[in-house]
Amino acid sequence: MGKVGVTTAVVCAAAAAACAVTALVVRNRMRNSGKWAPVAAVVKELEERCATPVGKLRQVADAMTVEMHAGLASEGGSKLKMLISYVDNLPTGRQELLQAARMTDDYAIMKVDVRGRACTKTAEFMTASQRRLMSGDETGLFYALDLGGTNFRVLRVQLGGKEGRVAKHEFEEVSIPPHLMVGGSDELFDFIASALAKFVASEGEDFHLPVGRQRELGFTFSFPVRQVSIASGTLIKWTKGFNIDGTVGEDVVAELTRAMERQGLDMRVSALVNDTIGTLAGGRYYDNDVVAAVILGTGTNAAYVERAHAIPKWHGLLPKSGEMVINMEWGNFRSSHLPTTDYDQALDNESLNPGEQIFEKLISGMYLGEILRRVLLRLAKEASFFGDSVPPKLEVPFILRTPVMSAMHHDTSPDLKVVGTKLNEVLGIPDTSLKTRKVVIQVCDIVAKRGARLAAAGIVGVLKKIGHDNAVKDGGRTVIAMDGGLYEHYTIFSECLQCTLKEMLGDEASSSVVVKLASDGSGIGAALLAASHSQYLQPVLS
Ligand code: BGC
Repeated sequence: MGKVGVTTAVVCAAAAAACAVTALVVRNRMRNSGKWAPVAAVVKELEERCATPVGKLRQVADAMTVEMHAGLASEGGSKLKMLISYVDNLPTGRQELLQAARMTDDYAIMKVDVRGRACTKTAEFMTASQRRLMSGDETGLFYALDLGGTNFRVLRVQLGGKEGRVAKHEFEEVSIPPHLMVGGSDELFDFIASALAKFVASEGEDFHLPVGRQRELGFTFSFPVRQVSIASGTLIKWTKGFNIDGTVGEDVVAELTRAMERQGLDMRVSALVNDTIGTLAGGRYYDNDVVAAVILGTGTNAAYVERAHAIPKWHGLLPKSGEMVINMEWGNFRSSHLPTTDYDQALDNESLNPGEQIFEKLISGMYLGEILRRVLLRLAKEASFFGDSVPPKLEVPFILRTPVMSAMHHDTSPDLKVVGTKLNEVLGIPDTSLKTRKVVIQVCDIVAKRGARLAAAGIVGVLKKIGHDNAVKDGGRTVIAMDGGLYEHYTIFSECLQCTLKEMLGDEASSSVVVKLASDGSGIGAALLAASHSQYLQPVLS
């Protein structure tokens, strides 16, 4: 085992031991006092219901693999939509590959293949966009718009082509007023287009658009979309608390284009991508071993590179690359093996999309804090956890956000000061005892670790599907590009996910699996895909 492997193992063992000790101490103390008995009972029940022993996780991973097959077999064949992205090759950005392309005058013989392995390959076997990628044509100014959570992001990238890569990029983040997330379609798209127009107006001289050209945009739209081409697709449903009238079934590119026109903004959407696809493209640009992307943020999802002939429901021409990127929409996965509780059931029933996105509701940032709130509310009601009355703010859905939960969970101060402060500030509960704060941390631990372990099981399911769950020889790597605030900022969550991957895959196989944080890979990835599908690119060969 390498140094990193040893360190991970020690961290995993220490984390597991610390957690077990905390649980035991809290339980023992509770047992000692009659007043705490009902609290202990609620926590114990939660712990049992949320348990994710490795055997159960294997069942979840296997169920994920089975559903992937079913979703690829036929439209509607599974809760997993397994959406075709129309991205059939990914930007590589590899220097040596681009060098090789330049060295060959007519691109007839390439010395490397698309993965950078030595080979002899005639260009006629390549698709037009593959040839463009090989020729290093990804140059120029491209915009990206990333919509998928409570904030959206606008980005501009100057691509330097053969040598320059991403020569310069700038972005701006804008938060979406809550009423627009549940209002009308035009209002939302007008708001976005207006922010985009302002951003374009601030374009500096470091960015160059050749005279006479239209600006082009990669649109990252992080909701389930049925695409009919790389630059169009209809919304299947909203998720993550969005619920906007009149958009389901509509082409979201047309909606955005109309809104841009209303703003007088002359811009063409040349690629419509899910955030997972953008992350995969951005990840692959910098690392050739990236085979899948996972988002763990407000929502959750995964995408991966599938062999085109393993997609029976695809009736179009087989892509010449032989590959197709699939947006799994794994947030909608469900299985009888998932450990769920009454809290999850109630959360789902009262949500904007009951019965949908069940995996997402157990795992993602939008919901973890809300599950915690529901457990604390029950403790308050049934075990007078916060005193004789129920704190009114605790009754407010979604008041306890996951970043607050994370701050409390990471509190290592002897008197758990952060927990005390957050309970007071966010929920209006003053003067909590140390014992109370410890129980709060224990609930955070149960809820967050169930989510992290299930996410790991999902990843193992994907690795199984593509045959990357076993040890590889010759130092090969399997890289998963990861993005999302939950993974990036909730350290206990991400460490638990990593440890669980190791536990499930074993030391040898897991040593070749790398989870690589690709913060905002999706924005850059969308811009790259806009570039490789630009209207101004002509095929290099006829
Ligand atoms: C959406 C996905 C998206 C994921 C992460 C889910 O709610 O359905 O399309 O990729 O969130 O943003």
